[in-house]
Amino acid sequence: MSTYEFAVEETFEPTAEEILDIESLVKAKLLPLPGSATRVLGLIEDVNVSTHDLAEVIAYDPVLASRVMRLANSPMYAMQKEVATVQAAVAAVGVRSIYDIVMLGVAADSFSSDMRSMKTGVSIWEHSVATAIAARALSKELSLRGTEEAFTCGLLHDIGKNLLFQTDPMRYTETEVAEVEEAASKLEEQIFGFNHSQVGFYVARRWGLGDAVAATILWHHKPKLATRALAITHIVNVADDLVTMKGMGLHMETPDSLPASDSVAALELDSIKMENAWAATEASLNEFLESC
Ligand SMILES: [Fe+2]
Ligand SMILES: [Fe+2]
Repeated sequence: MSTYEFAVEETFEPTAEEILDIESLVKAKLLPLPGSATRVLGLIEDVNVSTHDLAEVIAYDPVLASRVMRLANSPMYAMQKEVATVQAAVAAVGVRSIYDIVMLGVAADSFSSDMRSMKTGVSIWEHSVATAIAARALSKELSLRGTEEAFTCGLLHDIGKNLLFQTDPMRYTETEVAEVEEAASKLEEQIFGFNHSQVGFYVARRWGLGDAVAATILWHHKPKLATRALAITHIVNVADDLVTMKGMGLHMETPDSLPASDSVAALELDSIKMENAWAATEASLNEFLESC
């Protein structure tokens, strides 16, 4: 059995040929995780990690170090005086934010310079960052435990689009005629043989981000079919729709469809909580887009 074989979800059963196709697409288009990111993410998994150890690894990666310093000195952390060292910056922003910064860097680097210059590429990137922030805001609003991955899952939920778009930008833009994401996924299947959720599942596996992240990406449009990571899959589904409804997506989301969604019901979300989460998202969004 291949390492990346789809073994966990019984309702997602591509043929052996399709698996090979997706695998070769991911191999061809996906950059490996940088060594510094792998080391930082490995360190963060240790609950006893010290800021000193974390800072030492970050300091060896100038791009990552400057991102951490910029965030620590941003208005979001409102520090009394300028943070001048990587260690002070790590202490200021906290381990969770370091995880977010690393993932933001990894996700940003997966967009080629060609993609950044195209409207579709920019839209996917901004939608992804907004969904990450909204997923975290919803998670906080609901006081959910065990949803630390909300930001990462939100950030990477559409990373499969990124790879499909890079494979054939002109053909990918054909999916933009779809009014809603469900229909866009169907068009992706017609054009490429598989949809962005399936490709994203492979990306998470290849980067070793764990089964929960992979399953969330796979089922973010069909949360009812998920058999694991249910809360976070619902959170990402709502964050995705909320952000799209607020005008930050490739497709439309009608204002009526979100309040009636399965995920909103499963999470027992009301409109006040959703608006609170959106207000928190808007407050952080520009900050994040500037810092990455
Ligand atoms: Fe999606
Ligand atoms: Fe999305």
